[in-house]
Amino acid sequence: MKKKVRVSTIIRMKAEGRKICALTAYDYTFAYLMDESDLDIILVGDSCGNVCAGYDTTLPVTVEEMLYHVKSVSRGVKRALVVADMPFMSYQENMDTALHNAGRFLKEGGAEAVKLEGGEYICPTIKRLVEVGIPVMGHLGFTPQSVHEFGGYGVRGAEEQEARKMLSDAEALEEAGAFSIVLEKVPALLAKEISEKISTPTIGIGAGVHCDGQILVSYDMLGLYDKLNLKFARRYAMLGDATRKGVSDYCRDVRAGTFPSEEESY
Ligand code: KIV
Repeated sequence: MKKKVRVSTIIRMKAEGRKICALTAYDYTFAYLMDESDLDIILVGDSCGNVCAGYDTTLPVTVEEMLYHVKSVSRGVKRALVVADMPFMSYQENMDTALHNAGRFLKEGGAEAVKLEGGEYICPTIKRLVEVGIPVMGHLGFTPQSVHEFGGYGVRGAEEQEARKMLSDAEALEEAGAFSIVLEKVPALLAKEISEKISTPTIGIGAGVHCDGQILVSYDMLGLYDKLNLKFARRYAMLGDATRKGVSDYCRDVRAGTFPSEEESY
């Protein structure tokens, strides 16, 4: 087996010009399958709220729900770095709550780092988490927990003023000690500028090819959650169609009395 990926590995990968491969996972089975496939980072995203729980947004996801997913994923992963997404209002309220909840993701969940959304305003919290030994991944651009403030799901940073603010937020996250930063739905040229300006690795989702790594929601790229057709989420498999076919073939066989066969019976 290849060497365990650590936070230091991710930082070194940027310095050495090696692209970082990341995906989300939410359960044990997907986690161990993905871990056997040479991924660097497995993020237990609060996108579980959309793809596992069926919520319209990530906002209702709780710390307890995330902990269930983080524990399941951690049990399946030996090599990749496991990052736990901190859900809405589990870190914004005050520093003590953020420390308490982030600590639970490492102590109880078995994660090796946490992810927080937000720019400069969240940096004192990131700094404190890093001080106590909790590595932090930042998240800029389209941050789904702010969907109501944004008023939609559009690209962020297309206007000059917002682009400059995103660049200074990225510098603030670097200064605060984030070991990587997700850039979501950001113009490719802005993501390139940010990636070149900071030494912290950037991990893009809908942010073009110049980021230091890429991340996708696994259910999107595997064609499992196939309700949305996202421009940036290339489909590498069609598990949704495979599931529909498998289930309807099964029903056909049960109804025809051809399942189970004699070999499948005791
Ligand atoms: O929750 C999530 O899956 C994420 C990724 C899209 C980066 O935050």
